Amino acid sequence: MTEKLNVLVTGGAGYIGSHAVLALLDSGHRPVVIDNLVTGFRWVIPDGVAFYEGDIEDQALFAKILADEAIDAVMHFAGSIVVPESVENPLKYYHNNTAKTRALIEAVVAGGVRHMIFSSTAATYGIPQSSPVREDMPTLPINPYGTSKLMTEFMLRDVAAAHDFNYCALRYFNVAGADPEGRSGQSTVGATHLIKIGVEAALGKRESVSVFGTDYATEDGTGVRDYIHVSDLAAAHVIALEALVADPETSHTLNCGYGHGYSVMQVLDAIDRVTNKKLVRKMEGRRAGDPDSLISDNSAIKARFGWQPRYDDLDKIVRHALAWERQLDERRGS
Ligand code: UFG
Repeated sequence: MTEKLNVLVTGGAGYIGSHAVLALLDSGHRPVVIDNLVTGFRWVIPDGVAFYEGDIEDQALFAKILADEAIDAVMHFAGSIVVPESVENPLKYYHNNTAKTRALIEAVVAGGVRHMIFSSTAATYGIPQSSPVREDMPTLPINPYGTSKLMTEFMLRDVAAAHDFNYCALRYFNVAGADPEGRSGQSTVGATHLIKIGVEAALGKRESVSVFGTDYATEDGTGVRDYIHVSDLAAAHVIALEALVADPETSHTLNCGYGHGYSVMQVLDAIDRVTNKKLVRKMEGRRAGDPDSLISDNSAIKARFGWQPRYDDLDKIVRHALAWERQLDERRGS
């Protein structure tokens, strides 16, 4: 049994961060949240969890939290995540994702915190040479979002070599779904992700779903992605945390996905199946920068951490996303 750890969760009021908070609570650890509430929501943080409203680059606030809350480790989710926006406004991404994280890592090291888990992304690979993609394959991001995250991976590597500090960078594939108990879900306004858009359309919040590209080198011509349930991803963070503490000499960079994918059409079929309705599909041209197929090789995370997904089932992911979407307006108070 691992000791109870005090874990500072940056971006803990956001989509993935809020699920990590739940996973930490469910595993008997003590999460503490810092979030600037630019894209996150105060109401998603469970009662009894300490919350600080502020920015991760505020080193004085950070130092105070690390000391006052006796923080053992940091899970760092806060950041900007919209790929097309990163192309239009790269400096926003190098500020929010890279420069602010540099300030955060500096405060972490100065505060004597020895472990960090970082939200990295499959976007660090760019267009992979082959699929499934392994962690040791080339990282050649094709947008500033991916580059901003890869630069943070480099900072972590160098800091771990120089200081008494280890880290785990988890490269997420396509995160979807919601807490099976309905405690959190994807609440972002104006989300661009396929499953979120699909369930919004199924509930009448949109008229149709655009299918971006039908001439990809995939079985049905639409893009293939490796969709991972957000609660399996959150569980991977807790396992990574315990591994970092158990072996403070070792750091990790690991893919987080299921190792198989679904096309856009297959995802929309799943939504139709679950809702027993037919979404209106609008065939459109390709979206800039989309690879044909992006699938993880997840053998490393399974071998190192013994991580075993619990929700590797597309219909279940859709059901949970749909259940959350149904109660979202009520939760938001609109
Ligand atoms: N898609 C549509 N219609 C939509 C939305 C998406 O057809 O309305 C398609 C996309 O073209 C793509 C697939 O559905 O083929 C998945 O698209 P998402 O926007 O849901 O997700 P991405 O694969 O573009 O992005 C994800 C993460 C990013 C990460 C990226 C790595 O959300 O944070 O993978 O490539 F950077």
